[in-house]
Amino acid sequence: MKEPDLVAECINSMVNSCKLPVTAKTRIGFDDIEDFDYLNQFIHKMHNAGTNTFILHARKAMLTGLSPKQNLNIPKLNYDMVYKIKKENPRLEIIINGGITKIEEINNHLDHCDGVMIGRSIYQNPYSLVEIEKNIFKTKNCPTREQVAEKLLEYLDKEVKLGTKVNHIMRHTVGLYHGQIGSKDWKRYLSDNMMARDSDFQKAKHIMTIVQNNEKANQVSS
Ligand SMILES: Cc1cc2nc3c(=O)[nH]c(=O)nc-3n(C[C@H](O)[C@H](O)[C@H](O)COP(=O)(O)O)c2cc1C
Repeated sequence: MKEPDLVAECINSMVNSCKLPVTAKTRIGFDDIEDFDYLNQFIHKMHNAGTNTFILHARKAMLTGLSPKQNLNIPKLNYDMVYKIKKENPRLEIIINGGITKIEEINNHLDHCDGVMIGRSIYQNPYSLVEIEKNIFKTKNCPTREQVAEKLLEYLDKEVKLGTKVNHIMRHTVGLYHGQIGSKDWKRYLSDNMMARDSDFQKAKHIMTIVQNNEKANQVSS
């Protein structure tokens, strides 16, 4: 963001060398710059270079003094800046990001922007995507966690045959039972069997036993 010409050059090269649409994700500012005109001009430059979709993380980045993790929380969110960019550039696709976790918040943002990107909240609790499917997209038949796990195993089987490591997939499923009975068992099973570099697909097959036990325990308690 400090070097808009360089970013535009990179975008232009990508646009010219691939057929997929190129999107851009950026913060709204950096260090002591959090300025509408600066951001707007930066976006115009990227748009002229060939991108039409912008994901705006609604906080600036502190390039010195804060770790990447602190940079996800400490600079203040400024959603209004993102809304203003959309208002000023109605033809651009503007997707808002940063600190969004609840359905109500998503709906509010959708009044001002074209889309919402959610990072940490989905990573910690991936099954919350079902709430989004139901409430935002009005999807009727959403899969249970058990069905998700079955699909996951099918996918894992296919990928392992192509050479993907079991742990590269399974380490991202730690949150499947977030907030549910059995969350600890799920995490323990993953960490004991599926997190090592040489984890074996045969062990993954037993995962459905954990899943079925968790499903039963959650049905009994509800
Ligand atoms: C597991 C994980 C991986 C991420 N990887 C990237 C990345 O490769 N590039 C990027 O720009 N942001 C990345 N992010 C940041 C998110 O896209 C997002 O901007 C940030 O987490 C703020 O949104 P949130 O408050 O919804 O988490 C990642 C976030 C998470 C949780």
